[in-house]
Amino acid sequence: MNGKSEAFYCLIGNPVSHSLSPVMHRAAFKAMNLNADYQAFLVHDLKGAVRCIRAHGIHGVSVTIPFKESVIPYLDAVDKDVRHIGAVNTILNQNGKLTGFNTDARGFISALQEITNPRGKRVVILGAGGAARAVAYALIQSGAEVIITNRTQEKAEKLASKFSCAFVPWNNREKMAADILVNTTSVGMYPQVAISPFDGRYLSQFELVVDIIYNPEETRLLKLARQAGAKTLGGIEMFIYQGAEQIRLWTGREPPLEVMRQAVKEALRDGS
Ligand code: ATR
Repeated sequence: MNGKSEAFYCLIGNPVSHSLSPVMHRAAFKAMNLNADYQAFLVHDLKGAVRCIRAHGIHGVSVTIPFKESVIPYLDAVDKDVRHIGAVNTILNQNGKLTGFNTDARGFISALQEITNPRGKRVVILGAGGAARAVAYALIQSGAEVIITNRTQEKAEKLASKFSCAFVPWNNREKMAADILVNTTSVGMYPQVAISPFDGRYLSQFELVVDIIYNPEETRLLKLARQAGAKTLGGIEMFIYQGAEQIRLWTGREPPLEVMRQAVKEALRDGS
């Protein structure tokens, strides 16, 4: 711990070395003139890590893979979004009471709303993992009509049944008429930058194509979508907005969005 800092924040996950959260949050705290520090902790023992959070009075925590679900039993309370999504990405420590939140859903919608209002729009979601759960929940809350498709169909069916929405077989994904396409799969993520989870020939029908991958900044899918004339939204924006929601929860203050965006973009450019 940095003894000079008034408030201490951290990331727990495994792995954490490539996370951009430390760079983003340190930049935010500095711009907010807060005497706070943020460190990434590689965690092998989750129970022990939560005990440390309590013992050291760490004020706020970001939670990443693989602990977003398994951390829930160690917390004192969770908010409504967490109960629906089944995953925590943020912890707030209020005098020893640990509450779990999920800012991925709100972060996704805030980023999306910079471009379009999803209310009444038909949205195809590629994938049925943890990220898809947060995205589907957020879209349904915002009044969109959601259709799930996933390589492993049972998982698409399960997610669709949880949120009472539709699913289509993975092999039929390009045949669906819709307004927005969201990729939550890892297809196209570094180092597999040359592949796309959706055939470029069927992208021109979409008003907007979203990819939650942020490395590379423009995935193959987004490049094809741009070439097809659709608007595009990359994962950096969702990442920044979910981080901004964390700052709001931890400090009760307005986050310096542009500072956070520049810090993340610079770190991606530097390859750190
Ligand atoms: P996350 O929490 O980031 O969503 P996850 O739960 O591991 O991660 O989910 C990864 C998603 O990417 C899943 O929907 C997965 O499909 P399966 O359920 O069939 O595994 C999808 N995915 C990963 N590699 C894929 C590939 N090569 N083709 C299609 N989908 C893929």
